[in-house]
Amino acid sequence: MIIDELRIVGSTQTNVVMAAELVRIAQRALKRRPPEPRKEGLGQLVYPFDGDLAWAAVTYMRTPTRVLWDVYRTQANRLEPLFDELMVDIRGDTRKLWRDGDGISVEARRVEEFAAGERQVIGTVKNALLEGSGRRGARLHVDPHRPTTRWVARLDENGELVVSIDLGGGSLSQRGWRREAGEAPLREHLAAVLLMLARFDPRRDTLVDPMCGSGTIPIEAVHAARAMPREAPTLAVLGLARDAAPLFADSSPLVIGCDLDLEVLAAARDNARAADVTAQVVWQRADVANLRPDIIHDIARERGRTIESGLILCNPPYGERLDEQDLVKLYGALAQTCLRFSRAPDSRELPRWRACFLTASPILEEVFYDVIGRPRVKKPLANANLRAYFYLYEL
Ligand SMILES: C[S@@+](CC[C@H](N)C(=O)[O-])C[C@H]1O[C@@H](n2cnc3c(N)ncnc32)[C@H](O)[C@@H]1O
Repeated sequence: MIIDELRIVGSTQTNVVMAAELVRIAQRALKRRPPEPRKEGLGQLVYPFDGDLAWAAVTYMRTPTRVLWDVYRTQANRLEPLFDELMVDIRGDTRKLWRDGDGISVEARRVEEFAAGERQVIGTVKNALLEGSGRRGARLHVDPHRPTTRWVARLDENGELVVSIDLGGGSLSQRGWRREAGEAPLREHLAAVLLMLARFDPRRDTLVDPMCGSGTIPIEAVHAARAMPREAPTLAVLGLARDAAPLFADSSPLVIGCDLDLEVLAAARDNARAADVTAQVVWQRADVANLRPDIIHDIARERGRTIESGLILCNPPYGERLDEQDLVKLYGALAQTCLRFSRAPDSRELPRWRACFLTASPILEEVFYDVIGRPRVKKPLANANLRAYFYLYEL
């Protein structure tokens, strides 16, 4: 069956964040609100296909890992009917999904339940695409390394096979600036999710990542604040490309990345250079135990800035390399630092800070309970397949 849907795929438990991000982007880039999406599972949104919305999603969204155009769906559960149904669909499809001479690649995801192996599913979809388009007068060939379009076949929630075009041409999480990884880098789209959950407001918030590692959160914060466009050649191939400029080109939040480890800070600087945000981020060697508000205020003053409100945001080490005692000590130091940033309820002069963390260790919440109190927000959020939580504390 020919279908026409825009599918936005992200990490589990990020549906709400992705939908909110697309509303913001569509309102700014298209001057309209997208329709309410259908939610599939905890990490997929489905919209009726709309070329402008697809362009805006691929070009500006930062929280998903993929943006797909679902084009065919079939209940076939064996290879032969799969091929036959796809042939009928492709031959009757009037959309311009390929051009003569295009190279394609086909990948399969989550097809374990299909009554044939992954390689066979890939082969059948590929053959149907080559033969079906051939009958319509276009010669496609397979080019796994530099395809013009990437096709994806996967089973959906109902066990139906959906064939899609990957509009971003691969994982959107890789932004292209990472030169050095550090020890346990946060995936870029998750940094964007954290910034959304932390309600980072670049017009007001100074951002401090006290354990920045390779710099993912600070770099992502600058790009997210400006809504930097992403280049996606597939959009041009499909006639979906539009002129794209940063949506908030003059946004220039004060962003500070600190870490104890000098080597990792050098890696963060290299990454910042590649991401073209050297002038926007201040890197500072500091043990989180010694980080004080006056250090941050001095940095702001040197840059001619005043701090209206602040956000401390990081994914601290969570225990694969540290034992429980080390974690209690480290999270204790983090909590004491947050306490130094907190302001008396009646004080109006000092900026108000929030502190947000992603960790897979329950020790953070226990330690913070004694020093800061309960989190305002606690939300499950997987990090690299680990059961983790996002915490937001008002300081
Ligand atoms: C999980 S990593 C952060 C990864 C980072 N978000 C990234 O994307 O690369 C934790 C970082 O905390 C830093 N760290 C550990 N103890 C610290 C301390 N006492 N003060 C400051 N940084 C510390 C480590 O050097 C490491 O870079």
